[in-house]
Amino acid sequence: MDYDVLVIGAGPGGYVAAIRCAQNGLKTACIDKRAELGGTCLNVGCIPSKALLHASEFYHKMAHDAAELGINAQSVTFDFDKMMQRKNETVSGFNQGIAGLFKKNKITPITGSASFSGSNSVTVDGKEISAKHIIIATGSEPTELPFAPFDETKIISSTGALALKSVPKKLIVVGAGVIGVELGSVYARLGSEVHFIEFLDRICPTLDSTIGKTFQKTLEQQNLTFTLSAKLTAAKVEGEQVHLTYESQDGVQNQSCDAALICVGRRPYTQNLDLDKIGIALDDKGRIAIDGSFRTSQQHIYAIGDVVDGPMLAHKASEEGIAVADLISGKKSHLNYIAIPNVIYTYPEVAAVGLSEEEAKKMGLQVKTGSFPFKANSRARCSNDTEGMVKIISEATTGRLVGIHIVGAHAGELIQEGALALEKHATAFDLAATSHAHPTLSEAIKEAAMAIASKPIHI
Ligand code: NAI
Repeated sequence: MDYDVLVIGAGPGGYVAAIRCAQNGLKTACIDKRAELGGTCLNVGCIPSKALLHASEFYHKMAHDAAELGINAQSVTFDFDKMMQRKNETVSGFNQGIAGLFKKNKITPITGSASFSGSNSVTVDGKEISAKHIIIATGSEPTELPFAPFDETKIISSTGALALKSVPKKLIVVGAGVIGVELGSVYARLGSEVHFIEFLDRICPTLDSTIGKTFQKTLEQQNLTFTLSAKLTAAKVEGEQVHLTYESQDGVQNQSCDAALICVGRRPYTQNLDLDKIGIALDDKGRIAIDGSFRTSQQHIYAIGDVVDGPMLAHKASEEGIAVADLISGKKSHLNYIAIPNVIYTYPEVAAVGLSEEEAKKMGLQVKTGSFPFKANSRARCSNDTEGMVKIISEATTGRLVGIHIVGAHAGELIQEGALALEKHATAFDLAATSHAHPTLSEAIKEAAMAIASKPIHI
């Protein structure tokens, strides 16, 4: 065998698995079709979108909110090309960073598209590479609507939206999920008129419904508009315009825009792997089936990340990467899926860990909820970040935490307290009894827990 472990895919699942395998003393190679390591997350996903979210939020605050803080910033402008350039530099810096980590850990990077040629081998550009263990971490790709194929300039996926040449005057976003609200926010802040067409009767459908409603209201205040319960039925590019037809409660509607961002979900990416050659089947959603130890139907071939069941989150893939590498190395591993947080990086941010109130009730749990608004939090008032709230869900009798939900500034950072609390099976009483520094946004978590355990002080 050429290697102990061959990892297919160098995204946050694959590259992290490769590093942990190498740290565990295994001879490791990692194959990716892109020469730039980091996968979707780094190259065309989480990282570039966060660079643009940060730049656009900074601009928007300077242009619109500075005056309220006594700052005169009347003639704030932005340079879109430079914003994009900085985003690209942020990405390439991390590409080099991962290459450096591979070098340090003596991992062989291989560029090319891998296909299985046997149960212990793949071919890349006609060259066969063999390994004792193979980890599939090939990720996912944007789902295309058959009547609206991506051209990445007019009908765009998230990839195209991260590389536009100019700010569209009007952007229609099909699918008000995570990608839609994040990238829709970027362009709305930079001056686009942004309208959403969403199939369901709510945005970001997996959110706790109280949080979802508050979130939608704040986005609407930022001039993002939504047509809910609407289904896109046709899309046509004509010259510089995209014409969209959709069916809504008001009947058949037509709208034109400069660009249409289609983000209706992502699907597992297994193209060209030739999995059928080695008897690995896909489920009805195109995912690779695995057991509790990430093993496919072939005991020495594992799969992790977006290509298997579970939330399509970079950090979920990374956790699985560490766990599978440790299992292959004969070590114990631990991954508690219920304690994996998720974050939407809009303004305000939305973050959650555990179950929503609806999910908990569906599971037959008797719950007690406590919430606290940021408008009653002193730090939030100092920094003019008073939108949003914390909502905590606990088991009614024991107080054991079931879910923590935050919509508000820095929710993505604040949620880690909730993740640790769930990981350690803490109760609302534990959170309420924990000293939180004053003045901090995190006091809203304590007060929401106090609403369950006793009574909040500041409301
Ligand atoms: P999503 O599943 O979050 O949202 C897709 C939305 O499109 C849903 O609201 C759905 O009801 C709607 N939809 C589906 N078909 C439709 C149609 N024909 N017409 C109108 N609406 C339709 O998917 P999204 O936003 O594409 O993101 C894909 C994945 O990437 C998600 O699993 C997400 O977790 C992950 N992601 C995570 C991020 C984060 O953690 N911050 C950032 C970006 C992506």
